[in-house]
Formats: sequence, C-alpha cells, structure tokens
Amino acid sequence: MVSIKLLLGLGASLALASPIPAPPSPVLLGRETGHFNASRPNITIFATGGTIAGSAGSSDQTTGYEAGALGVEVLIDAVPQLWNVSNPSGVQFANVGSSEMTPALLLNLTQQVQAELDKPEVQGVVVTHGTDTLEETAFFLDVTLRFDKPVVVVGSMRPATAISADGPINLLEAVTVAASPAAARRGVMVVLNDRIASAYYTTKTQANAPDTFKSAEQGFLGYMLDIKPIFYFEPALPVGRPYFNVTATEADALPQVDVLYGYQGLDPKLAAAAVADGAKGLICTGMGAGSWTKPGQKALKQLVEEHGTAIVFSRRTTDGYVDTQSVGYGGGFLNPQKARYTLMLALNAGYDEEKMHALFESQSSSA
Ligand SMILES: *[C@@H]1O[C@H](CO)[C@@H](O)[C@H](O)[C@H]1NC(C)=O
Ligand SMILES: *[C@@H]1O[C@H](CO)[C@@H](O)[C@H](O)[C@H]1NC(C)=O
Ligand SMILES: *[C@@H]1O[C@H](CO)[C@@H](O)[C@H](O)[C@H]1NC(C)=O
Ligand SMILES: *[C@@H]1O[C@H](CO)[C@@H](O)[C@H](O)[C@H]1NC(C)=O
Ligand SMILES: *[C@@H]1O[C@H](CO)[C@@H](O)[C@H](O)[C@H]1NC(C)=O
Repeated sequence: MVSIKLLLGLGASLALASPIPAPPSPVLLGRETGHFNASRPNITIFATGGTIAGSAGSSDQTTGYEAGALGVEVLIDAVPQLWNVSNPSGVQFANVGSSEMTPALLLNLTQQVQAELDKPEVQGVVVTHGTDTLEETAFFLDVTLRFDKPVVVVGSMRPATAISADGPINLLEAVTVAASPAAARRGVMVVLNDRIASAYYTTKTQANAPDTFKSAEQGFLGYMLDIKPIFYFEPALPVGRPYFNVTATEADALPQVDVLYGYQGLDPKLAAAAVADGAKGLICTGMGAGSWTKPGQKALKQLVEEHGTAIVFSRRTTDGYVDTQSVGYGGGFLNPQKARYTLMLALNAGYDEEKMHALFESQSSSA
C-alpha cells in the first residue's frame, strides 16, 4: 500500500511532463545512494514509458489510463527490494506509450544500451516498455546488440494505480533475471507474469490480461519461482538470428517498410500506393503459409520489376513457417512486425538478393 500511495502522489506531479519523447539522456540516477553494495551486480534500467509507468484515476481502472506518467526514479523507489538483488540505476530514455516508439528511437536506444553493456562495471540491462509494441523493441534489440550479459525487456498490463498492479513484481523479476549470471548468453529476454521468454519469438497474445507474452511453438526459457529465475534449458540462442551493426547508423537511416494484410478479395492497389508513398519494402501478411491473391501477386511482381521493391511474405496465422514465394522472400518463422524490422535493417545494410534469401529463409532446421 505504501508504494501505491507513493506512486499516486508522485504520479500527479509528474503527469505534467510533456507526452513527447524527452531527449534521451544517458544520465544515470541512483547508483550513488547510500544503498550501494559493492558485492551486488550493477543493473541499468532504461525507462521508455508505457503502462508500467502508467497512472489512472481509480484502482479498478485497468484501461484508458495515462501511459508513461511516472519517471524511472519513481519506478525504482516503488520497489525497494531491487536493492536486495542489485545496485539499480535508471536512465529516463523516453516516457511514452509504446505505440509512440519509432525506428529512430529504437536506433538511439540500442546505441545507448550497447554503450552500457560495453562498460565492465555493468552486469546487465533492463528496458521498461509499454506492452503493445514491446515485442518489436525487444526483437530489434536482439538483432542489433552484441552481448553476452543479460538484457531483459519488461512491461506491465495494469497501471501502477490499479489494484493488483503487476508492474512492481515484473520490474523486480526483470532486474533479478538481469542480475543473474545464469541469464547470460540467452539473447534478449522478455519477463512478465512470472515467465522468462525469448524476445526473438515472443508475441503479445492477449489485449487485456497479464498472461499475454507467449510463444506457443518455441515455449518459454524459464520461470520465476519465489522471484528467482529457474531456466528450463542451458543458454541457447535462436537459430539463424542475424546481427546488424547499427552503432553508427543515423537516426533517419532506416528505410520505410509498410505492412499489408491478406484477406479475401484484397485490394492490389494498396501495395502500389505504399510504394508511391516511399516504401522501399513491403511485408505481406499472407493467408495460411503466406498466400496472396492472384491479382495481388501480379501487382507485387510489377513493383519488384519497376521499383525494385523488396517484398517479404509473413503470415496472418499465429505460428508456422513461410517458405519462398513466386516473388520476393518467404519470412520464415518471423511474424509481420518482426519481419518488418528485419527487412528495414537488411535494406539499410545493403543486402543483395542472395543474402536476403539466406536471411529470411535460413531459419529451417537444415541450416
Ligand atoms: C551486500 O550484498 C551481499 C550480497 O547480496 C550481502 O551478503 C551483504 O549482506 C550485503 N551487505 C549489506 C551491508 O547489506
Ligand atoms: C531485503 O533486504 C532487507 C535487509 O537488507 C530485508 O529486511 C528484506 O526482508 C529483504 N527483502 C526481500 C524481499 O528479500
Ligand atoms: C539520441 O540520443 C542522444 C543522446 O545520447 C541525443 O543527443 C539524440 O538527440 C538522440 N537522437 C534521437 C533521434 O532521439
Ligand atoms: C558497480 O559500479 C561501481 C561504480 O558505480 C563500481 O565501483 C563497482 O566495481 C561495480 N561492480 C561491479 C561488480 O562491476
Ligand atoms: C560496428 O561498427 C563500428 C563502426 O561503425 C565498429 O567500430 C564496431 O567494431 C562494429 N562492431 C561489431 C561488433 O562489429
């Protein structure tokens, strides 16, 4: 109850903060306080906003609240147990709902996280994030960071003001995982609702309930028992996970890639409209294992021939593999939003046709 009161009080004063992303600043807060204990791991928390920093008018309100109302110091202060497992320090990277995160912000975030991971005195990194696009940021970090140390992305489904808010325990579990040597060399992880999941495969499956981040096919990496991580497997990384070096990439460098949806009688003109608007690539969220209508395929073929548009087929089904198509590339196991960032990064890196095929279609077990 004490922490909820604290959150309510400070939330009201911080709610005046601008909803526009604050200029990311690498200023670390907290590690200098009297709680510091040299035998605990130093964990840096990058706060980006979202529900975990959200504030609502009443304790039974779990939708329609203001995301990103609370600052990173408030989040850390609300969970004093963080000091039992780590020396936490916070970076207020942004304070927005996750739908306001952009490719430019992700480039900046991954550059700052990499710089932090490169410091020998930092043992792990946690990123707090809204849940709606959490999987996009977690995936982006997974394919753009070079790291062995634990990196955990965490959010919450209920605002801090809700009865049974899940933010404080999720943050404590995320920091505990980031502080655990057993969590190294597992890629970026998503920790929510007592589960530890691979950022590469995990997706948000439920719009409202706390039990939402899942990967039905690949499963979880582990479980939190009494707020301690229990891993099901030895450290392992996703097969075929690429690495894109964006250390020196300019904020506006990533090309426009748009996502189209497949359905009966889809309008083939939408693809050309996206390209006319500047799209260098398209993700086609195909039916079944990536299928697209005949008139739609004809329109796509024309765009490839006339504009060199890069086309990747994904699927509107929840899981499964999308193989090579008559035009463009099959997206393998990637869902549309993850295929989109992969294509943006590959286009930026200047991949040719052969490398694109290998990138997207090499995720089958025979690789
Ligand atoms: C410092 O941390 C270690 C390891 O967690 C613990 O054993 C020790 O009691 C802590 N010291 C203080 C003064 O809290
Ligand atoms: C955290 O450590 C303090 C002592 O430093 C102890 O009183 C408290 O019970 C611990 N909390 C948890 C959750 O372990
Ligand atoms: C990225 O972060 C730096 C500070 O590290 C800041 O100066 C710059 O404006 C940021 N760029 C964007 C696109 O947010
Ligand atoms: C944690 O950070 C402090 C400086 O802030 C440093 O003195 C200490 O060595 C670091 N601990 C580890 C285990 O790297
Ligand atoms: C990434 O690129 C930068 C130069 O832009 C280089 O200094 C750095 O070593 C590269 N990192 C890796 C892991 O290749």
